[in-house]
Amino acid sequence: MVIQERTQLIAEPMSQADTQQLAQTIDEALKAVDTTMYDAVDSKVTVLRDASRHILGAGGKRVRPRMMLLSYAALGGTNFDAVLPVAAAVELVHTASVVHDDINDHGVMRRGRPSVNAIWGRTFALLTGDYLFTQVYELMAPYGSEMNTILAAGTTALVEGETLQAAAVKDNNLSREIYFEIIGLKTAALFRSAAMLGSRLAGATDPVAEAFGQYGYNVGLAFQIIDDILDLIGDAEQLGKTSGIDVEQGRGIAVAYTAGNTPDNAGSSDPMVAIKQKLLQGDAIDTGRAQARQLVEMAIDALDVLPESAAKDELIALAYQVVDRDR
Ligand code: IPE
Ligand code: IPE
Ligand code: MG
Ligand code: MG
Repeated sequence: MVIQERTQLIAEPMSQADTQQLAQTIDEALKAVDTTMYDAVDSKVTVLRDASRHILGAGGKRVRPRMMLLSYAALGGTNFDAVLPVAAAVELVHTASVVHDDINDHGVMRRGRPSVNAIWGRTFALLTGDYLFTQVYELMAPYGSEMNTILAAGTTALVEGETLQAAAVKDNNLSREIYFEIIGLKTAALFRSAAMLGSRLAGATDPVAEAFGQYGYNVGLAFQIIDDILDLIGDAEQLGKTSGIDVEQGRGIAVAYTAGNTPDNAGSSDPMVAIKQKLLQGDAIDTGRAQARQLVEMAIDALDVLPESAAKDELIALAYQVVDRDR
């Protein structure tokens, strides 16, 4: 494969120096991604600019742009300046989604700060999320139809997943199967886009891009399972966001790992009481963690197409960090 020939040129034995060099390059690139996002949200309308910068300035793990940049590096990409706007676009999609998510979930804390809706109210939070989405068009405009289509697929899926989740809650119809469908759409698809974009920008062939997509998708599934577990057992202060929301609203692993096709508490006046009780007694959390670990192994297996490199090691480390995190 073309890709292997290319990477073999740089496939000298990996040294600690390679790893340190890469870490520094990625850290610098991520700082530039932040600057790009900050600059992109310079609206003349004060509330849009202030609310956007509020959520961007609060930090966040930046795991999606990191995955994109590492995927790019793992295929020998070196011109990070040329791909920064795409990394910024991916992170802006995610940022818009959490601003809207906090409206839907009544989240009052996000990234260790009051959420946009807690400060500015629902209307401005809705519009700020919209505004963040619109800046994605601008950033992606120079990249042509293939890159735009990959990001559009992840973004569409995200909206579909959030909608499917709301519908499942409304219909009281959550099963393990539906849970996986929801998290595949609302979270894993954007991770898939991130990894695929990085690989394509470095010239990946179809099968190689597909392997990166598989890597991203499985990491994304694991990421959301762990997020749901942390939502149940984590500390809101440590997480930096309102926790327990998902359980309150009858979503997440609570249902997926304890109930059958129809939650068996249907009909009770407080539908969450039975699930919460069951969850605290049951092995839902251990089951969820085991499943996430399995998904991470599958993600790493997908990287077998790559020769050894510092970037490949970092992609593997990123996958493990997803299941080992506590925030
Ligand atoms: C939160 O994502 C939303 C989910 C998909 C679980 P992150 O955990 O990546 O949020 P930040 O960007 O670090 O705040
Ligand atoms: C993930 O769902 C949100 C998006 C994909 C937008 P959650 O509702 O579980 O995310 P958190 O826990 O609020 O970050
Ligand atoms: Mg939500
Ligand atoms: Mg939420």
